[in-house]
Amino acid sequence: MDQAVGLRKKGNGALESECCFPGPALQKPVRVLAVSSGKGGVGKSNVVINLAMAFDRMGQKVLIMDADLGLANIDVLLGLAPRYNLSHVLNGQKRIEEVLVNGPGQIKIMPASSGVQELTKLTDDQKLLLLELLDGIETDIDILLIDTSAGISDTVLYFNLAAHEKIVVVTPEPTSLTDAYALIKVLYSKFGERHFRLLVNSSAGEAAGKAIFAKISKVADHFLDGLSLDYLGAIPYDASVPKAVIQQKALLEAFPKAPAAKAFLSIAENIWRTQPSVNHGTIQFFWKRLLNV
Ligand SMILES: Nc1ncnc2c1ncn2[C@@H]1O[C@H](COP(=O)(O)OP(=O)(O)OP(=O)(O)O)[C@@H](O)[C@H]1O
Ligand SMILES: [Mg+2]
Repeated sequence: MDQAVGLRKKGNGALESECCFPGPALQKPVRVLAVSSGKGGVGKSNVVINLAMAFDRMGQKVLIMDADLGLANIDVLLGLAPRYNLSHVLNGQKRIEEVLVNGPGQIKIMPASSGVQELTKLTDDQKLLLLELLDGIETDIDILLIDTSAGISDTVLYFNLAAHEKIVVVTPEPTSLTDAYALIKVLYSKFGERHFRLLVNSSAGEAAGKAIFAKISKVADHFLDGLSLDYLGAIPYDASVPKAVIQQKALLEAFPKAPAAKAFLSIAENIWRTQPSVNHGTIQFFWKRLLNV
């Protein structure tokens, strides 16, 4: 699997650090967060959209990268109809700024496309060209949120390895827990990833969320030595979430007083407060890791 993914590894399995990508001067560090789950339909896309809204309200400039080719894409959830996507950039038809779509607030969205999967198959020349193109969108981003697809495909692993922070979404369903654990285990054992953050969605309450975290944490402690798993908090099961989906709006916009909306705000603050001590690179640094050039 790691060969297929083609990411460089250090002797200890960790992704090789490349400290000095020569991007243009004065580029600020960007936090890159990948949201994954293993199991499908657990609420990743809703988590991404509503965390993005919460960060936007905190005054952060957010870019959402839709790395999911599934049905419930970010553009559908927000009632947007993007004309272009990453594949148009990859085949040279459009510049990256022409592909980005405006979401609610100041949020920008890079729509999903088969181009996302193609990232894993580019030639070195294509990668370098793409890197040059991507260089243009750094201008004003504080946070990049990546909505990954379900499963443990190479593409999901790629995005997780390139991201600085890995948020794993689980629900109380046992299958969600086993699939989340499987994802963490692959990233840990094949790529030396040690740090993950768990978000419990559709929880029966805060105590139930903590109990689910305790369960997965206990197994991880036992079998994955040195793994650090943080608890980000729980989003309650809330009928306002599907209602907002039907309205094609973010929950925070459609039902800002709903219990789940309040929980999203508090989790976003929690994420913001607890920045990992890693030195975030610029957005170019992220693209470079993603493309492995
Ligand atoms: N906290 C919640 N309370 C109630 N319903 C929820 C909650 N979170 C998500 N849902 C519902 O679950 C469904 C799946 O959500 P979403 O599309 O965000 O999942 P996903 O993990 O991105 O799915 P996929 O793996 O297909 O990309 C949606 O219909 C949404 O309304
Ligand atoms: Mg989704």
